[in-house]
Amino acid sequence: MWFQVTFVLAAASCAASAERKTPVCLNADKGSRICSSEDIANGATISELLQSIMSINVDREGLRQVTSKRFVELGPAAEGPFSPNEKITENAELVFDFLSGPESISKVGNSFFGSAVDAVYKIDLENQNHSKIYNANANCPSDEPCSRPLGMRIKENRLLLADAKRGLVEIDLSSGGSRVLLAIGTQINGTALTFPNDLDVDWDKEIVYMSDGSTKWSTDYSTLDILEADPNSRVIRFDIKSATAQVFAHNLRFANGIQISLDKKFLLVSEFSARQILKYPLDGPLPATAEPFTGLLPGNPDNIRPSLNGGYWVALGFGRPNGSRNLMDELQARPDLTDKLGNAVLTVGGLVRSMGTLLKNSQIRDLGSKVQTGHIILEGIPDYAFVVEFDVNGNILQTLQSTKYQYASEVLEHEDGLYISSPRNKYVLKVPRSAFRHAS
Ligand SMILES: *[C@@H]1O[C@H](CO)[C@@H](O)[C@H](O)[C@H]1NC(C)=O
Ligand SMILES: *[C@@H]1O[C@H](CO)[C@@H](O)[C@H](O)[C@H]1NC(C)=O
Ligand SMILES: *[C@@H]1O[C@H](CO)[C@@H](O)[C@H](O)[C@H]1NC(C)=O
Repeated sequence: MWFQVTFVLAAASCAASAERKTPVCLNADKGSRICSSEDIANGATISELLQSIMSINVDREGLRQVTSKRFVELGPAAEGPFSPNEKITENAELVFDFLSGPESISKVGNSFFGSAVDAVYKIDLENQNHSKIYNANANCPSDEPCSRPLGMRIKENRLLLADAKRGLVEIDLSSGGSRVLLAIGTQINGTALTFPNDLDVDWDKEIVYMSDGSTKWSTDYSTLDILEADPNSRVIRFDIKSATAQVFAHNLRFANGIQISLDKKFLLVSEFSARQILKYPLDGPLPATAEPFTGLLPGNPDNIRPSLNGGYWVALGFGRPNGSRNLMDELQARPDLTDKLGNAVLTVGGLVRSMGTLLKNSQIRDLGSKVQTGHIILEGIPDYAFVVEFDVNGNILQTLQSTKYQYASEVLEHEDGLYISSPRNKYVLKVPRSAFRHAS
């Protein structure tokens, strides 16, 4: 990281031309403005430029501090039910290679749906064509994305979507229209909806259960939330008919995947940063009280979806190949170090990003965001796809793993095999039925 930052600074200094005038922007005591790219062309030096950048108002997240308090227990070793295998590596076929960063996937008849970084796609399997059915990024007020489709559920012509930047959205699959049912920023029990992540729907009662991954960090800063592992997260219960939202469960450490149990008695919730899946009774008083559904897992559980066996498939993030500790484990075990690193990336990344914005250089700006949001830390974690099938009581039935592919976010089981998505892949992995055990 430090090398890259130094490199950016060096590159920016080279950009300053040899001919030097005194840029207006540097006379700070005379009430001057912030340096622009013209000033740099006029010879502002890098330290002058940095001074100028320091005075820029940082954004909301830039003012926050990483304050982890928790020691996160390591999950179980890669043995017994979690013994390593390469079933995904050996059997996966890459499909839908235009789905950049698919988080959630669905198959209905001859149509396949994927929520990608930019839009929700519909793929027509018969005609082998595809189109965007929801593209809220087409009309953003600035050049930053204003929509990030994540978890989705479909029933007939209705697609309900957790859009991490917009809120709970309903898409009408017949007309192509969409509307926001619960907007990002809406106060629910006095706290703004901040990071919609996944959802499930009781279609008979028209009730949506949606995870609000963090009430402190927005989706762009999810890495910092994971590092912190503080209980800033909750599950929202939204009644579509009366348009009312309530806190269903709170004090979670990054509520992620959401699944109504197959008997409709419980809500299963992946507590991503605590590496466990919880279950909450659906008909009890709110906020609901958790019971464990699984024990500690050897990775961080993401989306949960039904298996054809009558159980559930769960995608695990940050699994450990060979049972070794990864960078996330090391950091979570040392809250003091995590705070220092988290706050350093926020500050340094914020500076680099502001510099990129000033210079109108998108490469510098993007590198700045990658550092500021902590995403650069994730790049130090080895690739590892890890998916687990649980029975209806939370016992492990089987795992499929791969040290070749990036972490998985969702598993969709269909008659023709398993589809595995990842927000870090540009495609979906498809594993044929012959490669795993299935219902007889
Ligand atoms: C694929 O092409 C058919 C025939 O032109 C069209 O009716 C359909 O809407 C297309 N599907 C998608 C998902 O773009
Ligand atoms: C609602 O907010 C109050 C005040 O902040 C808090 O004490 C309470 O725990 C919250 N309830 C839920 C269900 O989140
Ligand atoms: C796991 O073991 C394999 C084979 O020994 C090795 O190639 C790989 O680098 C190891 N992975 C990690 C993350 O240690």
